[in-house]
Amino acid sequence: MRVDIVSIFPEYLSPLDLSLVGKAREAGLIDIRVHDLREFATDRHRTVDDTPYGGGPGMVMLAEVWGAALDAVRATAESDPWLVIPTPSGYRFDQPTATTLAQREHLVIACGRYEGIDSRVAEYYAASDEWAGVVELSVGDYVLAGGEAAALVMVEAVARLIPGVLGNAESAADDSFSKSDGAPLEGPLFTKPPVWRELGVPDVLLSGDHGRIARWREEQAVERTRERRPDLTP
Ligand code: ADE
Repeated sequence: MRVDIVSIFPEYLSPLDLSLVGKAREAGLIDIRVHDLREFATDRHRTVDDTPYGGGPGMVMLAEVWGAALDAVRATAESDPWLVIPTPSGYRFDQPTATTLAQREHLVIACGRYEGIDSRVAEYYAASDEWAGVVELSVGDYVLAGGEAAALVMVEAVARLIPGVLGNAESAADDSFSKSDGAPLEGPLFTKPPVWRELGVPDVLLSGDHGRIARWREEQAVERTRERRPDLTP
């Protein structure tokens, strides 16, 4: 899979060199390229934004600059890319969305700052024959300072679903949110030592009875989901 990320803060994306995603890049499983939007600005001040039509606070990012950047990325692509625009006004980015994106050959993530990107950019690329489509996505019901942190979230959630990125032992199949049994949150976890600061481990986990352990874990997951996320309880 290939992912291009366009931002006025390319250094913000440097965590993608590390950990799981960094290793997946080194292994050639994911080709991530970060681009500086300002290189596509044409004036002396490398302006990327202007005041909104209709008035109001903040600034809107220029369609002209985004168009130049996205066309340049498209010119190096081997297939029609999906344009992903992180925005608090987007559709919800959740585990099914990550699964869908993980099946795409090429994503281009356009990180906006300020109030957002001129809406004609999404409209233009949605209608373009050279792009597979456009999707505006929100990572949660809060407002970030820009799309970069959201892009990090999306890339990590997508990358771990690409075959070969996780080892067998850590397969994504029984993650929270990947289960169909109605208890999407995972229950509590314990490892050695058996007593830590006078706190023990539930006896059932030391029983060696795999059937009982599985039932206990399921009960814990159901209870936690009911308590913490009643919205996810069927
Ligand atoms: N940009 C600012 N806030 C955001 C959010 N919640 N999700 C995605 N992109 C954003």
